[in-house]
Amino acid sequence: MAPLIDPFARPVSYLRVSVTDRCDFRCVYCMAENMTFLPKKELLTLEELDRVCSAFIRLGVEKLRITGGEPLVRRGIMTFFEAMSRHLESGALKELTLTTNGSQLGRFATDLAAAGVRRVNVSLDTLDEAKFAEVTRWGRLPQVLKGIDAAQAAGLRVKINAVALKGFNEEELFAMTEWCASRGMDLTWIEVMPMGDLGNEDRLDQYWALTDLRARLAERYTVSDIPERTGGPARYVRLEETGQKIGFITPLSHNFCESCNRVRLTCTGELFMCLGQEDNADLRRPLRASESDALLEDAIRDAISRKPKGHDFDYSRQRADGQMSRHMSHTGG
Ligand code: 5AD
Ligand code: SF4
Repeated sequence: MAPLIDPFARPVSYLRVSVTDRCDFRCVYCMAENMTFLPKKELLTLEELDRVCSAFIRLGVEKLRITGGEPLVRRGIMTFFEAMSRHLESGALKELTLTTNGSQLGRFATDLAAAGVRRVNVSLDTLDEAKFAEVTRWGRLPQVLKGIDAAQAAGLRVKINAVALKGFNEEELFAMTEWCASRGMDLTWIEVMPMGDLGNEDRLDQYWALTDLRARLAERYTVSDIPERTGGPARYVRLEETGQKIGFITPLSHNFCESCNRVRLTCTGELFMCLGQEDNADLRRPLRASESDALLEDAIRDAISRKPKGHDFDYSRQRADGQMSRHMSHTGG
């Protein structure tokens, strides 16, 4: 079976799957306080998620990242992780991983490890309890810290993802770096992206350029570039003093599209070929039209043949150009 190659000769080996639009937090840069969530019938069932992920794996996808919303609030999601472990055992799938807010890791870390998950990304922007409650609105820091403990106790490697927010977690740069170092965790900073409606949170005000963050790190540490790229927007450096890897996700200020290896599936079965473009392919219809996967595979190949060269995000003109109308919880980040 021919692997998935897009029109710009980029092999598609990485699928990110949002399994729910729901979340038990309401981060200010991600969701409105009163979100209307999708009715259940719109969502792909766990069986449909299995079919579509398995089809992608047959077509050469080697890495699966489960996202949301918060993936661990989807009812029955462990069944899905357990089902995916057959692809790890066969060797077709090289990595099964997830991005989580950590709130449910206390319950699920052991099961995730048993299903073959080796690493998790935990989103955490601040180590201050009051600030944590402010930015997540509904989240409670101690629960997340317990979740991280549980993940590490289960043998999962934890990477922390923090959204860089001007005037909010700037002063925690070193505290967070040291906390991660002391626990053997890598840390990735994400530039705040113009997703969803801006509401009264103005992303331009919150924008903290990662070039500045990196320069501040260099005041205290020896920062060396790591040439490795992962096919995504992250760049990595190493702090020589701690041995830690620090990542920078700068979708707005760097062009990483030439090495893009990924596509994103929403919880309703829309496939987005680029994070910054509206074009998408409906995979739910071919999934539901037939019990065989022939239509589904045709739809996937057709979608990949439309994968665009790159995205249009740009803050440089002092307004969020290329701004997307969909929320991060919809496409899964
Ligand atoms: N900008 C940058 N990152 C965001 N996330 C959610 N919304 C935004 C945004 N507007 C991040 C979360 C988490 C991941 C799922 O996406 O903090 O790390
Ligand atoms: Fe939930 Fe993550 Fe969005 Fe926060 S950023 S509301 S944790 S999906």
